[in-house]
Amino acid sequence: MLNGHLSQVAPRCTLLPGELRIGNRALPSRFFLAPLAGYTHLAFRTAIRELGGMGLATTDLVHATSLLSENRKSLELIATSNADRPLSIQIFGSKPDVLAAAAVWLEDHGYEGVDINMGCPMAKVNGQGGGARIACEFDGACELVSRVVDAVALPVTVKMRLGWDRDSLTAPRLAAAFENLGVAAITIHGRTRAQGFSGTVDMEGIRSVVEAVQQIPVVGNGDVRSVEDATAMQAATGCSAIAIGRGAMLDPWIFRRLELASQNADWNFEPTAEEQIQFLRRHFRLMTEQHDDYSCKLFRKFAGWYGARLGIPEDLEDRLRRFESISEFETIADEVLSRHGERSSTVATALVSVPNGPVERW
Ligand SMILES: Cc1cc2nc3c(=O)[nH]c(=O)nc-3n(C[C@H](O)[C@H](O)[C@H](O)COP(=O)(O)O)c2cc1C
Repeated sequence: MLNGHLSQVAPRCTLLPGELRIGNRALPSRFFLAPLAGYTHLAFRTAIRELGGMGLATTDLVHATSLLSENRKSLELIATSNADRPLSIQIFGSKPDVLAAAAVWLEDHGYEGVDINMGCPMAKVNGQGGGARIACEFDGACELVSRVVDAVALPVTVKMRLGWDRDSLTAPRLAAAFENLGVAAITIHGRTRAQGFSGTVDMEGIRSVVEAVQQIPVVGNGDVRSVEDATAMQAATGCSAIAIGRGAMLDPWIFRRLELASQNADWNFEPTAEEQIQFLRRHFRLMTEQHDDYSCKLFRKFAGWYGARLGIPEDLEDRLRRFESISEFETIADEVLSRHGERSSTVATALVSVPNGPVERW
């Protein structure tokens, strides 16, 4: 329950309410957490889910071969709990046999949904024929998808970009073919691989994917950071659901706001200082349950995303980027609470470091 006050009357926004079906899964809302490698781990997913409104989360991309060899890092990425539902596991690779076997492994281990990564722009992944590279070769992409779909009873979804560059906008044709092959939903990031994270999201491009399929849900993705952004994407594209990545780190309450907006309820609340710091502590504590002292290193990269939203004064944000121990974290969190509101800038520090063009690393 949020105790924060309404900062102003919330503008009315038209967002599709209610459940969404993806294959045999009934998802409680149409607002999904997009995978962010290095961030969307169990602790983050759980902490955000507790704030309400999230319909589905997807793990970071997991290398299919490493998963099959039960490599420690891959098992950490797919670690989950009863509270971490609904969840899809995202796999990547370029070999149909390996991806199909990884999907079977996931099904055998009780996972409920498999997402194929066809959008990753990283040179390392593309160089091995994975990620966005798959979408460049129509027959190969279809072969890969059909092998995975045929191997499991779980719903299989695909996440992709609009195409390699603006001269090869392959997503609509691929989406139509994937639907015929039995894919249960498509998530489309409205940029090309060549764009990386630069420029704006192409709403027309997302719309063309929505129009290319007959029945399956299309999940729009890219740059949604507010209820207004989500409303604009929904109106411009006709998408059935929206996936949010960076916006969830900039405002962990975004799913709750979207769910309230979709019910025509007031969504423009301001969490209290206590609620903001409680979220900060909760995320870190959940992380320590999985990673113990190593959490100090893992948590540091959230500082720049959380700083502005959680009212962390700049000098304390800087300390959160460097802290060394669990007790030091607690001291910083206490200080953030006592100095909450001192921060002068409302712009998140992390925003300035979004990469341009195809990226070497996330
Ligand atoms: C740091 C980072 C890591 C990402 N990791 C993945 C990933 O593992 N799998 C994937 O499909 N997309 C990944 N993406 C892309 C996002 O899921 C999403 O498509 C993109 O960030 C646009 O959505 P947003 O503006 O809501 O963040 C990543 C993006 C960022 C910034």
